[in-house]
Formats: sequence, C-alpha cells, structure tokens
Amino acid sequence: MSARVSLLINALRTPTKVRTSTRSEQLFEDAQKSLIEGVNSPSRGAAVYSPAPVFLERGAGSHVWDADGNEYTDFMMSFGALIHGHAHPKLVQVVSQAMAEGSHFASATSAEVEAAERFRRMVLSAEAVRFTNTGSEATMLALRLARAHTGRTKFLKFEGHYHGWYDAFLLNAHGHPPEQLGPPENPTRIPDSEGIPPSTFEDVVLAPWNDVNALERVMRARGHELAAVITEPIMANMGCIPPRDGYLQKMHKLTREYEVLLILDEVVTGFRYAPGGCQEYYGIQPDLSTFGKALGAGFPVGAVAGPRAILDRMRWGENMVLHYGTFNGHRLTMKVVAANLDLLSANDTYRRLHALGDAAVAGLREVFRRRKTKAIVQGFGPMFQIYFTERDAIHDYRDYCSYVDTATYSRFVHALLQRGVYMTPSNGLHWIITTAHSEDDIQELIQAADQACGDLA
Ligand SMILES: Cc1ncc(COP(=O)(O)O)c(C=O)c1O
Repeated sequence: MSARVSLLINALRTPTKVRTSTRSEQLFEDAQKSLIEGVNSPSRGAAVYSPAPVFLERGAGSHVWDADGNEYTDFMMSFGALIHGHAHPKLVQVVSQAMAEGSHFASATSAEVEAAERFRRMVLSAEAVRFTNTGSEATMLALRLARAHTGRTKFLKFEGHYHGWYDAFLLNAHGHPPEQLGPPENPTRIPDSEGIPPSTFEDVVLAPWNDVNALERVMRARGHELAAVITEPIMANMGCIPPRDGYLQKMHKLTREYEVLLILDEVVTGFRYAPGGCQEYYGIQPDLSTFGKALGAGFPVGAVAGPRAILDRMRWGENMVLHYGTFNGHRLTMKVVAANLDLLSANDTYRRLHALGDAAVAGLREVFRRRKTKAIVQGFGPMFQIYFTERDAIHDYRDYCSYVDTATYSRFVHALLQRGVYMTPSNGLHWIITTAHSEDDIQELIQAADQACGDLA
C-alpha cells in the first residue's frame, strides 16, 4: 500500500481529536503567581505556547496526557532526553530499586563504575569519563579542561550554536533579524543574556558554521590564540542543520594544525545517531566531547569524555582542574545510565531509530509536496526539523535568521497540538524519534500534519 493510500485510510479511520485546555489555562494562571512566566525555563512558557503551555501530567511509552486528560503522541520527548520514551518498565524497576536502597551517597559507588564502563565501551574517544549533572555543566568543564591543557584562554564558538547557559557560551545562540548580524567575516556579537560582564566575551571568537572558507580564515588569523573550537556536530538549536560533506573533518584537521582542542558537543546527538554518537557516525575523533540528554533517559546527567592526558588534569593536586558537585555521579542516575546504555546496546536499536525517523521525514515531505505547502524537512533518522521557507535547504544560522518563517511553524505546531501531537512550537528545536515510537505513531504524525496544512491554508 502506498504511503498516500494508507494516509487516506487512516484519515477516514481516525476522527479529528478535539482538545480542551481549561485546566491547563487555570494551572498557568496559578503557576504565574509563584513562578516566572509560570515555568522554570523560558523555552516552556508563554513565549512559545499560546495561550498557555500544555501542563503534562503523565507519560507512557510514546504518549503523554495533559491536565485536561488530552492524549498526545510525544515528539518533543523532554527536548530529546527521553530516548526510551516515558516510564520504560526496565527504568521504572531500576529507579524503584535504587530509591529503596538509597538514592545517593555522594561516595564512591559501584553504580558509577557500571555506568562509566558501559559509556567507554560505546564512546570510542572516551579513555575516561567524568559525569556532571547537566549538559551545561559538561560544556563548562570541557572548556575549563581545554584552557588548562593548552594554557590558552580564548575559544571559538559558532553562530547559532547553543552549549548551555554558561556565561561564555551565550553569544549569538538566539536567532535575530538578518540586518542585525553583520558581515559573516566579522559577525556582530549579540549576547543572549543580560548580566554577563562584557569582558567575558573578550575570550570568545565567533564564526559562521558550515563554511570551510570562513573557518580557514578565522583559524589563520586566530588559531594560535585558541584553547578550543567547540561545535555541535549537527546544528540542533536552529532546528536541525546537518554539516556539509567533509566540514567536520576539515574542522578537525584545522584544529590539529593549530594545536587547538576540538570539543564536540554531543549533548543533543550523543547516543542518538549511533552508539558512539555523531563522532562515530561521521568518523571523527574529538579531543573532548560532551554529553547529556539521552544519556540519562530522563534523569539529569551530563558527561565529559576524552583521553586520560586531558581528563587526568582533574586529579587532585597542584595545577588541578577543579570540578566539584554534590550530585556528580548521582547513584540513582548512574543506575539509570547503566540500564539505559544496556537497552541502547540491544541489536537493531539504531537501525530502527533511523528507519522510523526517515519514514517520518519522507512522509512529511510528501504531505508538503501534495499540499503545495512551502516547507522543507531537514535532518535524518532520530532527529529532524520542519522549516517553512521558499529555500531548498537551510545551511546555517544566517539562512535560518533570513529565510525561515518561524511564526507559521508555530501555528502549524499549535494545529498539531489540537490533533494530539505534542511538540514545542519553537522552530529552533527539533523532532525526536525514540525507541518508544512505532510506525503507527509516525502515521498519526503524518496524518495530523496533513490536516494541519489544511488549517494553515
Ligand atoms: C548542544 C547543547 N549543548 C548543551 C546543552 C545544555 O544542556 P542542559 O540543558 O542539560 O544544561 C544543550 C541543551 O539544550 C544543547 O542543546
């Protein structure tokens, strides 16, 4: 049966869901009395959802239920953290047991050994690993290690890349109107937050991404000053922008040439594209890499991985790189990490993630083609994004700022929410496929997208 025929049959079979939101709206009103914008992160509140964020109460597998009892198929999956979806039975059992035994001792534990051994087996560049509590902590630590190792303080970050909310990374991570961006060879530096001393950014060299010539130019001029180049392997905070062929390999070569450390920020891509993340998928060996999200399968964790020559700098003593943390190697979380990595190591996991994601991408492209909607789908396998644009492709931050109609995307996602598909209306994020998703979920998404295109028209 062709995708189109099965789409039509499904459309006849499944009635359009009507969503109510009374309770979510009431909760939002209450929430704002105690919480800023009613949430604990601006990416969750009324800045993106209208009129109110959806208050989720429960999840199982690929589905979630909100405070009004509406059911959704979840493609946001906690910004990618829930690699096995919600309440995976094995993880529920591991967490319940770990909780009953004592969740955390802040001591040495066998749990962290089990997690670290599995991590090292999967991530080829990891001679050692240090666990943190979030991706932001991991990138902070990686930068500190790189500075200590090279004796240099400056680092290069790319326009549109997000590496967490640490001061030094908060330059040009948000989208802006194209006229504010300045020339690519000398981008206007736009802090993402107030409260950061301007001197912090004196150590940041900013460059456009996915442009080999620009990178060669900036490395020629500044390479000798840099401790590190930090990059996302797939640009995942302006939607989903894969690297051009050979770009990451060229970046790797340039960092070697100028004796600069390459930090691959795999907080989004790690344990998602391949057992060893994008470094395995694209065949590059970074000096340091950072992880988070999928590593914890819903629990807060991050990690820095790399060679002993760099990570050993954290050993106690003079000239050490300090990294403390009450919750580092949190026992319950380490148990989850170990179980998660065992689940991910099962045969077929990555083939299935890629196949489901590719089917979703193909189905959505077909819907947009048939509906004559000016939209493209970028990315592949476990992660992709939809851009409403006249362009054939979005290659970088400047394309995103110039050519992507984020307002239409928001309307599209709100129309999907009405049809039982849960996703964030922020175009800067991306659709997530997990081991919990099924072919039926993908069909439901395609069918809902088809109807949502009707709404847009
Ligand atoms: C590429 C990247 N690095 C780092 C982070 C920060 O991770 P966390 O939110 O766990 O602090 C994020 C978060 O979205 C991210 O996308």
